[in-house]
Amino acid sequence: MEKVHLPPKYRYFAAPHPAVVIGTLVHGKPTYNTVGDFGITCANPLHIYVASVKTHYTNQGIHEHGTFSVNIPSEGQLVATDYVGAVSGHSTDKSAVFDHFFGDLKSAPLISEMPVNLECEVLHTLLVGTNEVFIGTVTGIYAQKDVMEGERMDIERVNPITLFMDSSYRTIGKPVGTAYGLAAQFRPKPSP
Ligand SMILES: Cc1cc2nc3c(=O)[nH]c(=O)nc-3n(C[C@H](O)[C@H](O)[C@H](O)COP(=O)(O)O)c2cc1C
Repeated sequence: MEKVHLPPKYRYFAAPHPAVVIGTLVHGKPTYNTVGDFGITCANPLHIYVASVKTHYTNQGIHEHGTFSVNIPSEGQLVATDYVGAVSGHSTDKSAVFDHFFGDLKSAPLISEMPVNLECEVLHTLLVGTNEVFIGTVTGIYAQKDVMEGERMDIERVNPITLFMDSSYRTIGKPVGTAYGLAAQFRPKPSP
């Protein structure tokens, strides 16, 4: 297969990002910031990272309290999710965009409308380029009852949003296989 050699630019980053909303308290009020730069740093025990530009208003609250929330929006919360990613708390009070509640960590506001909320304590802060990367220990997860089937979380009911480098938001597609299960179908290429 012929390839073109491209520069290391975001516009060629073809993998999906999750679109999630970070919550913190700044000056005692909730504030929110959408990030695509979010992922797992350790699955067990569960640790995650979020990368937020150093100058973002949200970062102040994370530094002040050492905690933050990560809230997973459904398609139904997409407009508000885009809004809190388009305006800054430096100039706009975003505290009333969502209803919130507190879990065990009293300084990490969790978004009531969103189906899944993670509360996190900062474990490490790294500087990478213009970002602060907050690596967080997930201390608790809250899920709306209607996305749960007993102990199992139904991802179709969560209906999370993915974000791509062409700025498109997309919902999840159809399942195309089972992790670790498909491996049984693998056949090595015949030797040349
Ligand atoms: C879909 C989407 C994804 C974003 N991803 C990030 C991100 O990963 N990191 C980041 O620093 N900013 C990201 N932003 C931009 C911030 O959300 C935006 O600058 C916001 O206004 C910062 O708010 P704050 O200053 O109140 O913290 C994203 C925005 C959108 C709409």
